[in-house]
Amino acid sequence: MYAIFADIFETVQFALTIGIVNWLAQKAEESRQNGERSIIKTALLGKTISVISSPEGLRRVFYNERICKRNNATIVTSKILTLGNSEDTVVELDGQSHTTRKAFLNNITHVQAINNGLQYFVVAKIEKLIADIKRRIHSSPNAAIDIHFYHELELCTWQIGLQQIIGLETTDEDNDGTISIMRTWKKGYNAIPVDIPFTNFHYAILARNKLYDIIRDQLSLHRKNPSAYPHTILTILLAHNSSKNNGGGGDVSDDAIVHEILHMIEAFTGIPMAVAATLINLSQADPKHTAALSKELNTSADLQSILKAPTVAGLDCLPVLSRTVKEGLRTGAVLVFRLATCIETTEFEGVIINAGETVMANFWGVHKSPDVYVDPNVFNPERWVGNEFGLFGPSGDGENNPNGLYEFVPFGGSLQWQRQCSGSTTAFSIVRFIAAKLLNSLDFEISQNQSYDWKSNLVVPSNQMPCIITAKVDRNEH
Ligand code: HEM
Repeated sequence: MYAIFADIFETVQFALTIGIVNWLAQKAEESRQNGERSIIKTALLGKTISVISSPEGLRRVFYNERICKRNNATIVTSKILTLGNSEDTVVELDGQSHTTRKAFLNNITHVQAINNGLQYFVVAKIEKLIADIKRRIHSSPNAAIDIHFYHELELCTWQIGLQQIIGLETTDEDNDGTISIMRTWKKGYNAIPVDIPFTNFHYAILARNKLYDIIRDQLSLHRKNPSAYPHTILTILLAHNSSKNNGGGGDVSDDAIVHEILHMIEAFTGIPMAVAATLINLSQADPKHTAALSKELNTSADLQSILKAPTVAGLDCLPVLSRTVKEGLRTGAVLVFRLATCIETTEFEGVIINAGETVMANFWGVHKSPDVYVDPNVFNPERWVGNEFGLFGPSGDGENNPNGLYEFVPFGGSLQWQRQCSGSTTAFSIVRFIAAKLLNSLDFEISQNQSYDWKSNLVVPSNQMPCIITAKVDRNEH
């Protein structure tokens, strides 16, 4: 009986009373107090869950494929949502199929694929977004406009995702901030009362069948007329998939391709969050950080060419921008936890995790851990000086300290070709570019009467990030 009440208590706290990120912070703190541990067992949503809040625990337990099998996002396991209602098409996250799948997916991380995406799809959409905002600013008497910025950015990145991945050109037909596919998707979005991490990737559930159809159509168009889609990720994936000798997988079925492509399109919902987190944190942090970034953007001799024709190499010439975005990814939240199922009973820090139990990777707790970060609650891009471009933590890339790959986990732990997000370098480049472009053309001021306390907000700013935007004369862009 007590266990049931404890479970209900935790569940209510988790989702409703204190919020998910607060709960995650609390669990990290409770485990520390419990003999300097980084693991704590609790009951949640009817399950026994071991919450792990340290890089060591992520490495040794959560990302150890002998011990844990990462769950698909909870909602996706429902059979009705699987393609054609067939079990065969549910692609396993870990296990045998993972290596093939990962080899196939990692083709999107070819520098050429990222540069293509930036040059052919991202620039035009962001320029249009900025032009739209400027038009509204100029028609407003105060030359400043209060907009719900997150929503604008979300629409924009959805369009970028659809175009960059499958070559589908979309427009905002009614000029009401939605595209038709997104309108269906939005219904799913609005139907979820609290913003549960992971639904970020799976808001599209209600639109899934429609999206599957669209992706299938684009797949056949790509096959019929490949020259019409020279730059899309799908073209690159197909080229690698058909060649067994270049590490491309070679045997990924059409159903699996459609499933993976859907995931990638949904994953673009993470990009506006990362941009928003950077902007919100910048606007609230020490003004010296904004000054340092402005100085870099103002004085970079290459900025004009980077903004017109961005490449990964070009963005890597902007260290202040890169460390600001990296810090935004650490302190803001896209995915704050991740679940796995224990497949082999194990012990960590004196706690037994039984096979069949759920294991939670507390990404939020790791990012806020004083054992990993000095003053973890302070937004301080300077902490990344000398480590701006790698998607790993303060201990480095794992060569001398294997935990380094599990300290900075906005994209999950390990390396990209292992368990980490397949789109991490793509996303990092797109977020850096969007942030640079916006900050170069517009001034943002987050409305002072709004609360952007990440601990009370969940993942997406629930009030859609209203902010005052003013246009500035674009630097170096004439
Ligand atoms: C800022 C934006 C993004 C964030 C924060 C993010 C974060 C993540 C995280 C935390 C995971 C789970 C890793 C794990 O299992 O521990 C993941 C997986 C994945 N992401 Fe991303 N992601 C982003 C953007 C993207 C983009 C743009 C794409 C595709 C172009 C993408 C494709 C994927 C794929 C395919 C997986 C599954 C990888 C696997 O199972 O091995 N993501 N992402």
